[in-house]
Amino acid sequence: MVLELGGGAVGSQTTREALASHAFTVYLEVDLDEAWRRVEGTARPLAADRERFSELHAERQRMYAEVADAQVDDADGVVLAAAGVHVQIGAIELLDQVVPGDGRVELVSDRHVAGIYGVQAQLALGARLLAAHEVPQGESAKASAVLEQLWRDLRGDRSTIVVALGGGTATDVTGLAAATYLRGVAWVPVPTTLVGQVDAAIGGKVAIDVPAGKNLVGAFHWPARVVIDPALLETLSDEEVRNGLAEVVKTGLLAGEPLWELPPHEQVRRCAAYKSAVCVRDPHDRAERNVLNLGHTFAHALEAAAGYELAHGEAVALGLLAALRLSGQDTSVVEEMLAPTRVHVDRDAAWTALTRDKKGVGGSPRLVLLDGPGRPRIGVELPADDVRAALDALIVDP
Ligand SMILES: NC(=O)c1ccc[n+]([C@@H]2O[C@H](COP(=O)([O-])OP(=O)(O)OC[C@H]3O[C@@H](n4cnc5c(N)ncnc54)[C@H](O)[C@@H]3O)[C@@H](O)[C@H]2O)c1
Ligand SMILES: [Zn+2]
Repeated sequence: MVLELGGGAVGSQTTREALASHAFTVYLEVDLDEAWRRVEGTARPLAADRERFSELHAERQRMYAEVADAQVDDADGVVLAAAGVHVQIGAIELLDQVVPGDGRVELVSDRHVAGIYGVQAQLALGARLLAAHEVPQGESAKASAVLEQLWRDLRGDRSTIVVALGGGTATDVTGLAAATYLRGVAWVPVPTTLVGQVDAAIGGKVAIDVPAGKNLVGAFHWPARVVIDPALLETLSDEEVRNGLAEVVKTGLLAGEPLWELPPHEQVRRCAAYKSAVCVRDPHDRAERNVLNLGHTFAHALEAAAGYELAHGEAVALGLLAALRLSGQDTSVVEEMLAPTRVHVDRDAAWTALTRDKKGVGGSPRLVLLDGPGRPRIGVELPADDVRAALDALIVDP
């Protein structure tokens, strides 16, 4: 539940105590000039005199800062704070402060990422570092053997915080280890890929792959905090940037804003805020969160038919194309930003995979379509022939 308090509410001791024990309190900062501009000339009794107003503003600052669990200056800041997502350039240098509490930390890194940022992260954690572990690079980390190795390697107690440094694969397997070790310990993903920063590290879904399919064994385990340092993306390969850009375009279509036009760091913050808002409203993926699946029913089918040899970003680009076509919407953004190219996979294998999608109901695929930019609709059932035709249009024959 969201409560918006009037400016004087925290003047009451009872209210302050109630906030401390029952609420996560966000102070949305407004500077004096802006605050005055908003009330000047109105009938509000406290807005009659600028001098009195500025005294009151200064007086209340102290109280606001005291009750606030987080201090922000825009609406995205409110959502990010509520979801526990901390976005800051250079945050990796401040890990000992941005990892909540003062408990000891076990650091789990993607092996490749450890080679680039491992020393920096360990130095920043300083005396809080209890142990450092590595998991294999890439999707092979999301395996039961790697999870089991983490269970063996982790040595902390219930007060230990597990910090995961890497892309979506490292944060997925480490998050599942944190969800299960000692029946669950706190964890903090520090995503290092664009996919991780705008998508995988947010929302508490963690999983590994099993022979029956990707992400089929997992948990919901909301991170104690997500630490996003957009500067870490500077070492990312072009291919990995393209994978992330597909999710940025997806988010922009869902939000109805051209997020892909923002400078890179703002893109990350805005996309992270969008996903946070959706996940905070529907943490267990019972309804609204399904919007994030836009284009993914087709993407997953193509990836499965390609034996997972197809980059996720390329599959999502094609999936978005199909979803927009079936929605009767303009596809030019996807074409210009992501340049999707038809793939060479077995048509029947792709169709079989699509009808088995884990988000389908009884063999019939449920799609996310767009009534317009920013207006997603979930659970859409279309005639099988139309869906199959849209899928076929993404595939090229040898
Ligand atoms: N849990 C969720 O909600 C969720 C959502 C989306 C995706 N995912 C999962 O995320 C995974 C994909 O994540 P990904 O795209 O981040 O892949 P990834 O974790 O495999 O990383 C991609 C590659 O980039 C390298 N890398 C990572 N950070 C780097 C950096 N800063 N500089 C240089 N190289 C770097 C990695 O070593 C790896 O080789 C999939 O398994 C997917 O299922 C999960
Ligand atoms: Zn995706």
